[in-house]
Amino acid sequence: MTDDTRPPRLDHACFQRIRQRVSQATGLQLADDRQNVVAHRLHARLRLHRLASFEAYLDLIDAHPSEQTHLLHLLIARDTYFFREHRHFEQLLRWLPTLAHPARLWSAACASGEEAWSLAMVAQQSTSAGWQVLASDYDSALLRQAEAGVYDIAQARYFPHGWLDRHCLCGADEAAGRLRIAPGLRERVRFETINLIKPLPTDLGEFDVILLRNLLAGFDARCKADVLLRLMPHLRPGGLLMIGHSESIHGLDLPLRPLLPSVFERL
Ligand SMILES: C[S@@+](CC[C@H](N)C(=O)[O-])C[C@H]1O[C@@H](n2cnc3c(N)ncnc32)[C@H](O)[C@@H]1O
Repeated sequence: MTDDTRPPRLDHACFQRIRQRVSQATGLQLADDRQNVVAHRLHARLRLHRLASFEAYLDLIDAHPSEQTHLLHLLIARDTYFFREHRHFEQLLRWLPTLAHPARLWSAACASGEEAWSLAMVAQQSTSAGWQVLASDYDSALLRQAEAGVYDIAQARYFPHGWLDRHCLCGADEAAGRLRIAPGLRERVRFETINLIKPLPTDLGEFDVILLRNLLAGFDARCKADVLLRLMPHLRPGGLLMIGHSESIHGLDLPLRPLLPSVFERL
């Protein structure tokens, strides 16, 4: 009898094929030690399609490329929360009022949207000159979640005091326990599917701030450099790039100067 609760063996060759697919689609490099994690995460897809091996699953993706969306969705990290790495937002609260023009802000790997909405709340609190946020991710399913702007109310534990009432609506009846981002913020945030390893949309324009956080660490040095170089024309001189606190752009030849840990100013 086969044990359906355990994934079949993922051999080295299939693991390499999966890694290659992930890297070609997103630029991310799955670490060598992720073999078991990958097998467990994809097991449900094998069961759904009644497949007995990962080789058969990869053949299925060759025949039906849309299945790859599920593979990526299951394997790519998308952890996020409101006001993650809060020092960035505190800095923006001080910096945005120094702009004499409407601020253009980009959350460039926004996952389910918490980062983009945090940015929107900070902009609403701090600028009187107007603002717009672009929220993008390569994963359109995540972007739909981001655009819906509905979250478990427990997520509000990360909000500064008083901001839940100011920037969100709290659900009642069947929506009890949920928060919804208020219309005043929603009308100024635009969502677009953008894969940062591909050519960027030609009409992006220039931003005052780009948040590219908790993604770069998954790229190899060359991909990291390519992605950052592609972003540079879209960050105006004097604008800020913010990366994750555990990420580094050390050694890359970019027109940026460090301002604070994980914050860089465009030259
Ligand atoms: C760990 S989450 C980080 C979310 C948020 N920036 C934060 O710091 O909380 C990484 C996000 O990067 C996205 N991502 C991965 N590869 C990407 C690519 N090539 N282009 C755009 N987004 C990508 C994933 O879909 C995921 O939502």
